[in-house]
Amino acid sequence: MRSSQLVPLALVVVVGVVTAGALAAQSGAPQSGRPAAAPAAQSAGGSAEHGRYIVHEVAQCVQCHSPRDEQGNIIESREFDGAPVHFRPPWPNDWAIYAPRNKGLPGYDDAAAIRLLTEGAIGRDGRQLRPPMPRFHMSKQDASDVIAYMRSVR
Ligand code: HEC
Repeated sequence: MRSSQLVPLALVVVVGVVTAGALAAQSGAPQSGRPAAAPAAQSAGGSAEHGRYIVHEVAQCVQCHSPRDEQGNIIESREFDGAPVHFRPPWPNDWAIYAPRNKGLPGYDDAAAIRLLTEGAIGRDGRQLRPPMPRFHMSKQDASDVIAYMRSVR
């Protein structure tokens, strides 16, 4: 019985990957970098490749959460290890002075991480994080992609 169920499942996976590849080709995205079915399944269905794009090029998580060298350049080998926040607004504020290590999103299961990124920076204890952590209201798909990428960072 088991093996007869596995065949249709394998077909669904293959068809899904082929369809995703075709969609990526249509939108002009590179096909080769698309992660295979197995890693995607481990990360709540998100695309680590698109998550990398959001984290580095759009939401810029890496800019606040990574330590820098004396010239102010991010130390690549220590991305997401946590870093001091060196700027504050001039008005009275309750800004955090440190952007903690967020490599792998420690302490956040998938549900808490989705809430963090879709409901305006709600931390794992249910309270809103302090600025300058941005109040992200991502789509669930974008949040899943960010989570997949952050869990894949070594
Ligand atoms: C402008 C700077 C900035 C950016 C950009 C930023 N963060 Fe943050 N983040 C912070 C700060 C500061 C804190 C600490 C907030 C506090 O202590 O209340 C924080 C907190 C967090 C925490 C909570 C860690 C914990 O221990 O509970 C996570 C997780 C996190 N950020 C993930 C992200 C992700 C993922 C992104 C990008 C999608 C991102 N951050 C973008 C500044 C930033």
